[in-house]
Amino acid sequence: MLEVSFASLVPGRPTKVNLDGQDVCLARVGEEVFAVGDLCSHADVSLSEGEVEDHFVECWLHGSRFDLRTGEPESFPATTAIPVYVTSRDGDTVTISLPENRK
Ligand code: FES
Repeated sequence: MLEVSFASLVPGRPTKVNLDGQDVCLARVGEEVFAVGDLCSHADVSLSEGEVEDHFVECWLHGSRFDLRTGEPESFPATTAIPVYVTSRDGDTVTISLPENRK
């Protein structure tokens, strides 16, 4: 489990954090925060170096867009989903944790 400050997250600009040894891409969309695996499923590229628009993070290298809610790619060349993490928010505190089935 990891806690970050909501105020430190800039809408549209993903942030890389480390959760139990795994790189995670955090994205603020309005008042919500999403957390997905930081590695693009197409190649070894950090998604937190890309851009967030609506509920999608876009890989900067070849442009695949991943749905932050499901981890599924909605455009080629990526065809495999990335992991999705659990987030919850209490005021300024955002908690990120592994889903139940991956603990
Ligand atoms: S490395 Fe991300 S789409 Fe190719």
